[in-house]
Amino acid sequence: MRGRFITLEGIDGAGKSTHLKTVQGWLEAHGLEVVMTREPGGTPIGEAIRKLLLDRTSDMNPETETLLMFAARREHIARTIEPALERGDWVLCDRFTDATRAYQGGGRGVPMERIERLADWVQQGLEPDLTFLFDISVPTARERMGNRSPADRFEREEGAFHEKVRRVYRELAARYPNRITVIDAGQRSEEVKKSLENELSRLWKEKIFV
Ligand code: TYD
Repeated sequence: MRGRFITLEGIDGAGKSTHLKTVQGWLEAHGLEVVMTREPGGTPIGEAIRKLLLDRTSDMNPETETLLMFAARREHIARTIEPALERGDWVLCDRFTDATRAYQGGGRGVPMERIERLADWVQQGLEPDLTFLFDISVPTARERMGNRSPADRFEREEGAFHEKVRRVYRELAARYPNRITVIDAGQRSEEVKKSLENELSRLWKEKIFV
């Protein structure tokens, strides 16, 4: 049987990396083979593109940025995601196209129709089966990030940029309520873990997954 494709999203500082491990642990405890990966990245070419994208010293045009995100994504789908799903593995991916909608569409102002056109072109029908959106206020996220250094090209953007990113993420959750589950990431870490595990159990029982 084909595996499932799960993505994790949220603004910088939402604690995604920690929560990713919770999801991984839960799935593995349920006997599933899990492939962990991330975007931009997940392949040698994707990781090279990631370096370009995050480099603090580069000043990049927003369209170039969008195209590079999708170039890395095409490689990732073709070489990592699709083969894993075909094998029957579950793919747990740290960010996917919702991040492009939120960061390049919301943050940078790239027209959404262009992003959707590229998404169709690159994804060729592949969509996440489930997305967890870790929602947190921008001031709380920033406080948690502290002086995590050196900040990359996105982390160093001002608060207004991250507010726009968060707004688009929340709009997407409202538009795709069946796919996107919102988790309040402003709670204490143990509370977030509990919410996440409850949600996974609920989805499991409702057979959303299988
Ligand atoms: P991430 O791996 O979450 O950063 P970190 O390693 O610091 O936890 O993501 C890298 C950055 O790339 C993040 O700030 C969001 C940005 N990004 C986009 O702007 N568009 C995209 O399509 C993706 C996948 C990421």
